[in-house]
Amino acid sequence: MSNGILHNKRGLIFGALDERSLAWHVAKRCMDEGARLVLSNVETAIKLGDINMLAEENNLPLLACDVTDTSDIRNLLEKSQELLGGKIDFVLHAVAQSVNLRRHLDYENLNYEYYKKTIDISAVSLHKILKTAMETDAISEGGSVVTLSFIASERYMHGYNDMADAKAMLESIVRQMGAVYGEKCGVRVNAVSQSPTQTKAGGIWKEMNYFYRYTDCLSPLGNADADDCADVCVALFSDLMKKVTMQTIYNDGGFGRTVLTDNMIETLRNSQLGK
Ligand SMILES: NC(=O)c1ccc[n+]([C@@H]2O[C@H](COP(=O)([O-])OP(=O)(O)OC[C@H]3O[C@@H](n4cnc5c(N)ncnc54)[C@H](O)[C@@H]3O)[C@@H](O)[C@H]2O)c1
Repeated sequence: MSNGILHNKRGLIFGALDERSLAWHVAKRCMDEGARLVLSNVETAIKLGDINMLAEENNLPLLACDVTDTSDIRNLLEKSQELLGGKIDFVLHAVAQSVNLRRHLDYENLNYEYYKKTIDISAVSLHKILKTAMETDAISEGGSVVTLSFIASERYMHGYNDMADAKAMLESIVRQMGAVYGEKCGVRVNAVSQSPTQTKAGGIWKEMNYFYRYTDCLSPLGNADADDCADVCVALFSDLMKKVTMQTIYNDGGFGRTVLTDNMIETLRNSQLGK
């Protein structure tokens, strides 16, 4: 359903890799709502992923940027404004990576160099983007920045590893930089805490399939999918939520507030556990 609520808005989308990516769905939904976009990803993802396809099919500029590198970010913000013909109105930060997770290293046996990388790519990068945008006045007053988080930022989840620490830090950056950027320039900063969704990043975690079924059973509304995530991001980018900032918004079907559902009881009844 399209209402054109992002008509004439200029957006920068980080993190679309392939058509399962949350950022891919957000980009498409933003275009449906009338936004003009620049896409960005790290060089290797542009070479190995399908983002070129999204850019070509929709005639969108695609610029390389490693979000850990502030000079890359500065160039990207400058070029994006040139291409879009003015300041940026909204930014999606949909970026995460953990080599510890990819290599299945347990939390008590983390490799500290990988740990630093996880934090830098998945959390500090948001600080770098916001700081650089503030210094160069790249985002318009009333603009909106959204990052994507996960419930493991606040509750222990087996196997999510150092990414849980990164998400906790990411949500803290949302609050802290949200206050600073709001007061100084009227820019909003929020996180969307999304249900598990089957993407490349989501798939690295080896118990994903079990967890996906578990959260679906335990969410009164069921898991939120990538299109649901896109809807919430579009709402946050729009002027309809112009006083919402520094928040983590749970797009998780109620999972984070639930201990037991009928659906879960039924599932347990039908399993060996119920006998
Ligand atoms: N899939 C899920 O279950 C889920 C749930 C909640 C939150 N999230 C979050 O959503 C965001 C997007 O993940 P996704 O699930 O769509 O997976 P994805 O793998 O499609 O997206 C991750 C993106 O990060 C990019 N990236 C990695 N290192 C980078 C760097 N140095 N510079 C720039 N970009 C870099 C990758 O190229 C990729 O495009 C992540 O923050 C993830 O933690 C995902």
